[in-house]
Amino acid sequence: MKRGEKAVLILIALLVGGGMARSLFQSEVKHDHDIPFYSTAAPDVARDAMDLYRKFGCKDCHTLWTMKDMLQSVPAPMMDGIGSLRSEAWLYDYLSATNPQAIIPSRLKPEYRMPSYASQSEQDRHTLARYLASLKVQDWYLEQTKKAEYEKLTGMKYKQ
Ligand code: HEC
Repeated sequence: MKRGEKAVLILIALLVGGGMARSLFQSEVKHDHDIPFYSTAAPDVARDAMDLYRKFGCKDCHTLWTMKDMLQSVPAPMMDGIGSLRSEAWLYDYLSATNPQAIIPSRLKPEYRMPSYASQSEQDRHTLARYLASLKVQDWYLEQTKKAEYEKLTGMKYKQ
């Protein structure tokens, strides 16, 4: 093989190899631009639950759909993906508890803690629990979501 031919072959090998490496790399990082959160709720459940969510001031403390209230300063866990961490039954019991801190102890000042919604109607608590349970996270972001929840609840670093 002539020197010139060899150089051309090497160049082709580099281009092909580089292209393959790049596409492998891209398929790994492509998730960065995807939103990992989604809901499986029927539209009427979502609408009713979001009305309650606003009415009961959940959005004053919690982030949902990665939207944060501008004035929000409470380090409460986000609701995105919560349905992959908690079951509907658990969420209903938590919203129905007269003392939610007996279920999840709080590290925060009393005014920032999760309030009790026990006095709200059973139907409203059901609608909220059902909707929260429908808020899922894609598998590839589950560990990140667990980490974020753990760090919000405990104020400590998450160790796997
Ligand atoms: C005053 C702020 C505040 C309001 C209002 C509030 N929360 Fe919370 N919530 C918290 C905090 C803080 C926690 C973490 C536990 C604690 O510190 O009491 C929490 C915990 C939770 C959890 C458990 C999260 C987990 O990691 O398992 C759920 C579910 C929840 N809240 C849903 C709601 C819903 C639904 C509403 C409205 C009906 C609401 N919260 C209103 C502050 C609030």
